[in-house]
Amino acid sequence: MSRVFIFGATGGVGHRLCPLLIAAGHRVSGLHRDPAQAEALRAAGVEPVLGDLMTLDVDAAIELIRDHDVIVFSAGAAGSGPERTRTIDGHGPVTVIAAMRALGLRRLLLVSAFPEARRGLEIRPGFELYMQVKKQADAALAATELDWVILRPGTLVHADGDGRVAAGLALPYGNVARGSVAALLAALVDTPAIRREIIELTDGETPVAEAVAALVRE
Ligand SMILES: NC(=O)c1ccc[n+]([C@@H]2O[C@H](COP(=O)([O-])OP(=O)(O)OC[C@H]3O[C@@H](n4cnc5c(N)ncnc54)[C@H](OP(=O)(O)O)[C@@H]3O)[C@@H](O)[C@H]2O)c1
Repeated sequence: MSRVFIFGATGGVGHRLCPLLIAAGHRVSGLHRDPAQAEALRAAGVEPVLGDLMTLDVDAAIELIRDHDVIVFSAGAAGSGPERTRTIDGHGPVTVIAAMRALGLRRLLLVSAFPEARRGLEIRPGFELYMQVKKQADAALAATELDWVILRPGTLVHADGDGRVAAGLALPYGNVARGSVAALLAALVDTPAIRREIIELTDGETPVAEAVAALVRE
C-alpha cells in the first residue's frame, strides 16, 4: 500500500486515477482548489486537500505532501492563459520537486505532453508556451536524483478508453483516452522498477499491464 498524493485529482485524468488507486489498495489524497469539490472527493474515497497551485510555495507544498510515498502531478492550466500556464504547468512541478527533496520523498509521476503535439497545424502562442513550460518542467525533474517517471501522452480524449495502449520511449503521435492515461499512471504506482524514464503514450493495441511490464528494464 502506498500513500499517493495527486495534484490534479479533480481533472479528466486525475478523477479517473483516484478509483483505480483506491481499488488497488492505496491511500489517496487529492488537491482541490474549490471547497465545493471536497465532498465529491471524499465520496470517492479520496482525502481532500485544499490548495491552489497559483500561490503554492515550497513550504506549503511540504505540508501538503508530507506523509505520502508517491506524488502524481497531473494538474494543468488547460489553456487558461500564459501566467497560469507558467505557474501551474511550469512552476508547479518545480515547487513539488523542491518539497519532495526537502522531505526525502523519491517517487514523482509527472504528466507532461507529447513533443509532436499539433505539429503541422497553425502555431498558437499559448500552445507554444505550454509546450515550452512542459519541457522545462520535464528538464527540471530529469535533472534530479528522484525516482521520477515523465509520462508524455498524445492528445487527450474525454473517454475511459478500452484499456489498450501503445507505451514506449518513442512513438508515432496519436490520441489517447484520459482513462488510459489514468490506468498507465496507476500501473506505474505499482511498478517502482520503472524509474528515471520518459514514456510516450497513445491509444493502441496492448493491454496496459502488458505495456507497463514491457517497460521494466532487466
Ligand atoms: N489536453 C491534452 O490534450 C493534453 C495532452 C497531453 C498532456 N496533457 C496534460 O495532462 C494533464 C492532465 O490533463 P487533464 O485533461 O486531466 O486536465 P484537466 O481536466 O484540465 O485537469 C486539470 C487539473 O488541474 C487542476 N488545477 C488547475 N488549476 C489549478 C490550481 N490553480 N491549483 C490546483 N489545481 C489546479 C484542475 O482543478 P479544477 O478541477 O479546479 O479545475 C484539475 O484537477 C495536464 O497536465 C495536461 O497539461 C494534456
